[in-house]
Amino acid sequence: HIKACIFDLDGVIVDTAVYHYKAWKRLANELGFEFTELDNEQLKGVSRMRSLEIVLQCGGITKTEAEQKLLAAQKNTWYMDMVNQMTPAEILPGAKEFVESCRDAGIKTALGSASKNSMTILNKLNIANLFDVIIDGNKVSKAKPDPEVFLKGAAELGIEPKYCVVFEDAIAGVEAAKAGGMKAIGIGDPVLLHEADMVISGLDKAPRPPKEGAGDWALNK
Ligand code: G6P
Ligand code: MG
Repeated sequence: HIKACIFDLDGVIVDTAVYHYKAWKRLANELGFEFTELDNEQLKGVSRMRSLEIVLQCGGITKTEAEQKLLAAQKNTWYMDMVNQMTPAEILPGAKEFVESCRDAGIKTALGSASKNSMTILNKLNIANLFDVIIDGNKVSKAKPDPEVFLKGAAELGIEPKYCVVFEDAIAGVEAAKAGGMKAIGIGDPVLLHEADMVISGLDKAPRPPKEGAGDWALNK
């Protein structure tokens, strides 16, 4: 049965996915091309530098490594300007309550995000203490769909992957969970996230875990 829940951050716990999109779109526009919401799906869950490569590919543009560093830093500045305006109202509906209900049921909780800004965001919204373990973009070398971030989370919790369920809004994140031998609950579009074991619209719609020893959880397929 499920002993640990591992949560992606952007687009699962907080509404930052839209800020990532706005910042990448601004960069693309300044470089002279369009960047759509559908293009953006490829960036979800993907590291900053890999995201930039994909954006540049969309515009058919090549840049030197030094230029790429500057462009990624520019995007991050725009992104953090928006993050710094965030309030706890931007914690996604039901997210805090769901993580708390997991803990009440004796289930361990971890954050598994590719973002190097994870701690800043969690501290800003005062929710770092929801997680027993935090694995962010500073602690991993292989980006999703590689399962490294989730496997590290499970290892730090001391729980075998098969007892973990991952909550993810990104195609790459669902793939990473499955590659790590974990269950995956997709948050978002069931068509895009078809590899997930179940897809819901948000954590407010996640089935609540039963109290310890009180039977099966509906996630527990
Ligand atoms: C998350 C987001 C991605 C983002 C990545 C790196 O996984 O879904 O869109 O590119 O983190 O974020 P960072 O804050 O380090 O640029
Ligand atoms: Mg995400």
